[in-house]
Amino acid sequence: MNKFATLVLLQLIAVGIPSTAFPQNARSDLPRLEKRGEAVQLIVDDKPFLVLGGELHNSSSSSVEYMKSIWPRLVAMHLNTVLLPVAWETIEPEEGKFDFTCVDGLLEGARENHLKLVVLWYGAWKNTYSSYAPAWVKTNTDRFPRIQSADGRDTESLSPFSTDVRDADARAFARLMKHLREVDGDAHTVLMVQVENEVGVIPESRDHSPAANSAIAASVPPLLTNYLETHRSSLNPELRATWEAAGARSTGNWQEVFGNNSTTDDLFMAWQFATYIDRISAAGMAEYPLPIFVNAALIRPNYEPGQYNSGGPLPHSVDIWRAAAPTLDFYAPDIYFNEFAFWADSYARPGNPLFIPEAQGGPTGAANALYAFGRLSAFGFSPFGIDDHGNVPLDLVGITNPSEPPDNSAISNLYAELSKLSSTILTAQEIGGITAGLIEGDEQRSARMAVGDYIASMSRGGPPSSTSPKVGAMFVQVNPSEFLVIGTGDAVVTFSAETSWPPNVGIESVDEEFSENGSWVTRRRLNGDETSQGHVLRLYSTDLAQGRMFRVRLYRYR
Ligand code: DGJ
Repeated sequence: MNKFATLVLLQLIAVGIPSTAFPQNARSDLPRLEKRGEAVQLIVDDKPFLVLGGELHNSSSSSVEYMKSIWPRLVAMHLNTVLLPVAWETIEPEEGKFDFTCVDGLLEGARENHLKLVVLWYGAWKNTYSSYAPAWVKTNTDRFPRIQSADGRDTESLSPFSTDVRDADARAFARLMKHLREVDGDAHTVLMVQVENEVGVIPESRDHSPAANSAIAASVPPLLTNYLETHRSSLNPELRATWEAAGARSTGNWQEVFGNNSTTDDLFMAWQFATYIDRISAAGMAEYPLPIFVNAALIRPNYEPGQYNSGGPLPHSVDIWRAAAPTLDFYAPDIYFNEFAFWADSYARPGNPLFIPEAQGGPTGAANALYAFGRLSAFGFSPFGIDDHGNVPLDLVGITNPSEPPDNSAISNLYAELSKLSSTILTAQEIGGITAGLIEGDEQRSARMAVGDYIASMSRGGPPSSTSPKVGAMFVQVNPSEFLVIGTGDAVVTFSAETSWPPNVGIESVDEEFSENGSWVTRRRLNGDETSQGHVLRLYSTDLAQGRMFRVRLYRYR
């Protein structure tokens, strides 16, 4: 019996798919991550939840009033979840005096609009700097020391080596989580929390404060060297090579264990940021144990530590983060680069379910989202700056200047379709009956993917254009030989098989279905010229705008 039939049988006899809490300490009635079948999913009110998200611009959520006109626009774009910052300076403007008026207003706005939230804790760091720390922290550089440059100057970033910074940050975060438990512990408006934002050091590769200088000259903590030894075979290959090139030592200072170069500075800072963040996270989780994560700014080709955020949770240092920060549930990439598949693949690893808190929007974002949900069983996707005006009906928000950037209609159209297919997609993720292809970059012309007993081969239908630079398509198995296909971009898809007999695959039928008023309406059967007499499936860059997907049935012949 194949996996699909097994699932149907299991459902018929009302036996649930075995599920495992992820991590083990998650409280069972709260939003949590859980391994269900082949996927790790976000469970909200006991049901898997697919985050069709968007992240606000950094300061939009500092004003409840400002947000009033934003919420309806996000609803009109078919989001179900909004990622928004809560800044330390907003909730603790004076030391020890907490003010949750803004947080409560945001919760109210979200609830009125039936939206869920992912809270981004802008504590000590936002993109390596400390611009969202309260004034009483910023101005007291004696008590709250800064990262220092090699020539001993203070920077505008708090030092992760300072226990005063850490403890003040942890206290504030714990108060926020306590408050969320008190006001949202039953409603579950807030689904997850990100701690800090894109941490790391720039423009130098490490902190040169006296505390940091002593730490780098001291022994690498045994917790880390033990971790390297016990996880040697599964370490990130780059990290393993760095460690082995320096002799795979189990003792020594940082330069002895990892080498005398800026990579060591990066690993050293990763350990320090992770250790610090683990304390913040643990303090918050003790109050209210929601899923918790950190996000990473990625590396441009040939950039050195310090040119990129040195110490951030990057693929080559995630093992260091794991050793130092066991309270974190996962590591999330902010993917703005064109090589989306490369970066998403790098983070979708065993033990690290994929969630993308920041990404490009527009048609590129729509193609990338299909790949993330379909190929990598992501549980969430979220373009950044979602409160830009986009293509939302302008009368809804009173905007009179329609020339505002950027156009997020592709995301809006995609989410309109996905919101009606969420439970089908989540079931397919559980049984491994889903895949997706992405054609990106000038050289790539095709993509090949396996789903069920079939192979789908997708080729670009034309040259990359400014309106559809990428082609993305998701294949959702709803029966052993029946698939729903949602695409963005112009493409031609053929089907074949490598297993089972008979060996040849034919297209039994292609139906177009349109998303209309909350349901799917079947229109034409496309078994003529449109599919080259049943030989190919054609996808068009206009499909999303039309709300169109395809139902493809396949058969086998000798
Ligand atoms: C990445 C950051 O994490 C966001 O807060 C925002 O600053 C974007 N960059 C802007 O592109």
